[in-house]
Amino acid sequence: MKRLICIIGNKGGTGKTSITHMLCHGFGLLGMRSIAVLTDTSREPLARGDRRYTPIDGRSPDKLEKIIAKLESMPEWLGVIDGGGNRPEMDSQLYEVSDLVLLPFRDSHEDIRTVRNDLDAFPEAYGIPSQWPTNAWQQMTAERSLDELMQDYRPRLLDPVYAVSASKLLLESQVPPSLPTMLNNVCRGLARQVLERLELPEEES
Ligand SMILES: Nc1ncnc2c1ncn2[C@@H]1O[C@H](COP(=O)(O)OP(=O)(O)O)[C@@H](O)[C@H]1O
Ligand SMILES: [Mg+2]
Repeated sequence: MKRLICIIGNKGGTGKTSITHMLCHGFGLLGMRSIAVLTDTSREPLARGDRRYTPIDGRSPDKLEKIIAKLESMPEWLGVIDGGGNRPEMDSQLYEVSDLVLLPFRDSHEDIRTVRNDLDAFPEAYGIPSQWPTNAWQQMTAERSLDELMQDYRPRLLDPVYAVSASKLLLESQVPPSLPTMLNNVCRGLARQVLERLELPEEES
C-alpha cells in the first residue's frame, strides 16, 4: 500500500510543518487515520488531545526508522513525515522511503529558486504552493510568477494550499475540539488531492 508521505525541502519557513498537520487533519475529516511524524530537532512534540490524528516524535533516527517499519504493519494508517529545512541528506533518505513527496514553497522568488533545485534533485516529487494568497490581486501576481519561473514544472505542481490564519491552531499544544470551517475545507481539499496522487480511495465517514 502507498501510505507514506513526506513534506520536505531545503528552505525553512515554507510551510512543511503546517502542511503536515493540515494534511493529517484533512485525513481525519475524511475518516482516515494518520500520524504526523516530527523529525525537526528544533521543535517540541505535540500531544494528541482533541486532534483527529496522532502526532509522533520521530526526531531520533532510531525512532524514525521504527515508526516507518511499524507503519508497514498498519495498512489502514497513513503516515506524514514533517521534514526540517536545510538537511539535504535527510531529505534524500526521506525521498527514498516515501510513496509521495511534497515540496512546499511560498510565493517568493527565494522559495521558487529553492523549490526548483529540489524538484530537480527529486524527480518524482511534487511542488505545492503554500500560504497562497487569497486576495484576487495578489493571486494574479503569484500566478504570474509561476508562469514566469515555474513553467517547466507546471505538471508537477499540486493545487495551492491557501493562507488560512487558523492553520496555526493545529500547531498549538491544545487544539480546540471544533475548528473554523474555512480551515477544515482547505485541509479536506489538500487531503483529497494527496489521496488522488497516491491512487487511494477516499473513505468518507
Ligand atoms: N497555509 C498557511 N496559512 C497561514 N499561515 C501559514 C500557512 N502555512 C504556514 N503558515 C505560517 O508560516 C510560518 C512557517 O510555517 P511552518 O509550517 O512552520 O514552515 P516550516 O515547517 O517549513 O518551517 C508559520 O508561522 C505558520 O503558521
Ligand atoms: Mg517545520
